[in-house]
Amino acid sequence: MAAENLLTPSPGEIAFGADLIAGRIDELARQISGDYRGRDLVLVTVLKGSAIFLADLSRRLTIPHRLDFIAISAYRGASAGSSGRIRLLKDIDRPVRGEHVLIVEDIVDTGLTLNYLFTTLRFRGAESVEVCTLLDRPYRRLIEIESRYVGFTAPDAFVVGYGFDYRQRFRNLPDIHLLAR
Ligand code: IMP
Ligand code: MG
Repeated sequence: MAAENLLTPSPGEIAFGADLIAGRIDELARQISGDYRGRDLVLVTVLKGSAIFLADLSRRLTIPHRLDFIAISAYRGASAGSSGRIRLLKDIDRPVRGEHVLIVEDIVDTGLTLNYLFTTLRFRGAESVEVCTLLDRPYRRLIEIESRYVGFTAPDAFVVGYGFDYRQRFRNLPDIHLLAR
């Protein structure tokens, strides 16, 4: 047990505290509420990590909107290389044709996931597709893609907490930590 704890990566230093996150989400929500006033807005959230961010963001929006969810898995194994093949695990429930879609993401890293979502939702006839991501690593992009709304620029280190997981653990932590190995 003790030996396992020593070998298991665990949450270390706090990178973004709960209060800081909440304050930034207030600002993003105000901006989004202004930009989408009078439009049919749907927040499309990528399961599972972004669900925590969505819950806080959605409750701070002052305009009507609906929620939908999508789940995908990325192959980043040796065989996939940088092509980053992406598989759809769960599709959104309702058509987005004619609606304004805001993709809610936890973090944009290479941009491969986001590029797939962007293309798919555009193809389905959404009136507009934009992205709101809590964290961004612009310096890691393999595909050029820009988010209209960004919470914070993330450090080049693995983070856990506030939805971010390491092997499905630590999503429930209120703060975002660096993973200590
Ligand atoms: P990408 O932009 O296609 O590379 O995908 C980014 C996805 O990788 C995110 O949605 C997360 O699920 C995951 N990810 C990237 N960096 C981290 C991290 O530091 N902690 C936890 N998950 C991460
Ligand atoms: Mg994600």
